[in-house]
Amino acid sequence: MRKPVIAGNWKMYKLLNEAVDTALALKPVVANANHCDVVIAPVFTALKNVSSRLEGSNVKVAAQDCAAEAKHGAHTGEIAADMIKDAGCSHVIIGHSERRQHYGETDASVNAKTKSAIQAGLIAIVCVGETLDQREAGSADDVVKSQIIKGLDGLTVADTERIIIAYEPVWAIGTGKTATPEQAQEMHGVIRQTVAEAHGNEVAERVRILYGGSVKPDNIVELMSQEDVDGALVGGASLEAESFAKIVNYR
Ligand code: PGA
Repeated sequence: MRKPVIAGNWKMYKLLNEAVDTALALKPVVANANHCDVVIAPVFTALKNVSSRLEGSNVKVAAQDCAAEAKHGAHTGEIAADMIKDAGCSHVIIGHSERRQHYGETDASVNAKTKSAIQAGLIAIVCVGETLDQREAGSADDVVKSQIIKGLDGLTVADTERIIIAYEPVWAIGTGKTATPEQAQEMHGVIRQTVAEAHGNEVAERVRILYGGSVKPDNIVELMSQEDVDGALVGGASLEAESFAKIVNYR
């Protein structure tokens, strides 16, 4: 049985006090959620404060990116994976579509960052997903397969224990347009099959595949009812403790 993961991506929202307030509001209302792992991803500057205030709770903290370079050095503006760990995080989001689209993230950098994250002892939430043009051109499966193969290239079986995959169709992110549960299931099946071919059946059976893109309290149940949907990566609806808690407590 794969334990579900419900992760909230706060993107570039919330000043320090707002991030801490939301985290503190979330803590009690998800305290009984033993059925899933709960993760929130505040901005870098809030990581330490948020993680300190959540210590001892079941809410884990993620960064939204990390450096490709594992070794400390002259990389102005970058933050190494072990620094993220040092700030109290257990997870890091890698290759979010906003980074791929606007900040030059490539499958090669996703691969390097994933390896750095694993080496630092973090769990990497590796994001993949096609654009609307790619879906309409009928190439969605190929795009996502290629992102998976290249993004996870060279990972050992032990490494794969430290990854979570998030399928986020770009056309569904922040648009209010959710993939139908059938569309999500179909692509999650493709992803699991691709992982099986590249890393073996056992790895494929174990790896958790989250859906992301306009997940809300009123569509989480249907999405989670799909066989290969093992959780959600939530943007907008994770910004308020109340709506995120409803998603976490979907059952
Ligand atoms: P959304 O964002 O839930 O606001 O669509 C999801 C994401 O970008 O991870």
